[in-house]
Amino acid sequence: MKKKTEKFEELSGKRQQALLGGGEKRIQKIHESGRFTARERIHLLFDEGTFQEMGVFVTHRSTWPGIADTKIVGDGVVCGHGLVNGRNVFAFAQDFTVFGGSLSEANAGKITRLMDMALDNGAPIIGLCDSGGARIQEGVASLGGYADIFLRNTLASGVIPQISAIMGPSAGGAVYSPALTDFIIMVDKTSHMFITGPNVIRKVTHEDVSFEELGGAMTHNTKSGVAHFIADDDEDCIDLVKELLSYLPQNNMEDAPFLPPVDDPGRTEKRLNEIVPDSPREPYDIKDVIHLIVDDGDFLEVQPLWSTNIVIGFSRMNGHVVGIVANQPLHLAGVLDIDSSNKGARFIRFCDAFNIPILTFEDVPGFLPGTDQEWGGIIKHGAKLIFAYCEATVPKLTVITRKAYGGAYCVMSSKHIRSDYNVAWPTAEIAVMGAEGAVNILYRKEISAAKNEDEERKKHMDRYNDTLANPYIAANLGYLDDVIIPENTRPMIIHALEGLLNKRQQLPPKKHGNIPL
Ligand code: HXC
Repeated sequence: MKKKTEKFEELSGKRQQALLGGGEKRIQKIHESGRFTARERIHLLFDEGTFQEMGVFVTHRSTWPGIADTKIVGDGVVCGHGLVNGRNVFAFAQDFTVFGGSLSEANAGKITRLMDMALDNGAPIIGLCDSGGARIQEGVASLGGYADIFLRNTLASGVIPQISAIMGPSAGGAVYSPALTDFIIMVDKTSHMFITGPNVIRKVTHEDVSFEELGGAMTHNTKSGVAHFIADDDEDCIDLVKELLSYLPQNNMEDAPFLPPVDDPGRTEKRLNEIVPDSPREPYDIKDVIHLIVDDGDFLEVQPLWSTNIVIGFSRMNGHVVGIVANQPLHLAGVLDIDSSNKGARFIRFCDAFNIPILTFEDVPGFLPGTDQEWGGIIKHGAKLIFAYCEATVPKLTVITRKAYGGAYCVMSSKHIRSDYNVAWPTAEIAVMGAEGAVNILYRKEISAAKNEDEERKKHMDRYNDTLANPYIAANLGYLDDVIIPENTRPMIIHALEGLLNKRQQLPPKKHGNIPL
């Protein structure tokens, strides 16, 4: 029988093994690829000394020859909870040094137990993903592990914030757990996400594509919109996770963290008066407007590189977290299209699920015309944006800076769909359509009969702009609460927001709505 000291030494040896994962050589390879190990990532994420690990000694149960005797303590995933900037957070980090971070039945069990605990405790869960997918040697047992995770991702959706950081490969079905979470951060150059890799694609469709081009961080941040953020490296990625968490509540029963404000809530901002150009055709950057209005100019933009005609992200107003949705006149004149509708709708639903008031800045000429859009289903995608705004019961505030034309007027958080406080700047143009389109329909005969068509058109356009394309008809009808000088926007929004913080609004009882997917 072993002596007590021997038993203690045995434990210490096993723990050392757990800390080493797949061993020194593989750790070195990870470092050479510019990545950190799972444990280094966990160390970066959690406040010093607060991480409580779970399932430290779990090993796989596979009997497959070649792997049956290679049991690595922890089995390729580090799981646990601790404090991130003082708040309780659950996290798992896949360890690529152990069978390529692949998902086994046993390590899936660690992850699902962690997810259950995060849900039971109402705390966010973070996945630090670096995995070759299902552990091939385990067959259906590892597939079952994925399905167990998908179920929990879905059940936790809208209850606790879920963030996925892709910090290496994420191949095959492994992409679907991150896709079910709220936010995906990808590390530039070292992370990849795809359903089928370049080799399979070459065989099936004869396309030649690199890993990076197919599923690198830039691809998913600019082309597909699968990812929400791009990080320079592992350290930047963990910093982004922490920054994002700082805007999120622990769960759907809590409010997002209030940060005692330094910025003056009464701050007026004369520069706002100069931003909207006189010509309705001239663009400006809506982010300049956002930065001048929110606390300290801080704005964490979500999906900054994809569908840039709409801008979404988090800020604070007098310390209260708000989700911002803004049309961006700088890109495609801020038009609504398939991608921007999807981008806006998903963000609005996130904010609504987690009690984050929505502040909308509107300057939108309408929905984008074209066969691409029509055949791509703009009708159903645009409807998602309407659905999301209509369904949202959090405080909703809208500032119309310039154009609010056509269906887009209705969609972008109008009063009619239960927005709480809507104002316009004097530069607002609120009408069924822009002046030129309108007079070409209404005065077609007069214009074509005129000696000088341009002059005739201009006459009608001027009249249209003066009488119809302004904020006052909407204000007279009570569709706007006020028309305000731009410099006063911050204090007015803060006053309105603070009166709405206890808003309680119910939807009719139902299992769930049927958002047009
Ligand atoms: C078991 C795996 C593995 C896997 C990698 N490894 N993926 N072991 N199951 N899925 C092992 C390798 O054999 C190797 O072991 C070690 O991990 C490191 O892998 P390398 O290939 O040397 O690393 P690298 O060159 O960096 O390439 C990484 C990679 C590649 C691109 C991820 O390993 C790869 O293509 N893996 C397979 C990806 C895949 O098709 N997965 C299944 C997807 S299907 P040794 O001992 O040699 O060092 C799926 C179904 C889920 O996931 C469905 C849910 C709906």
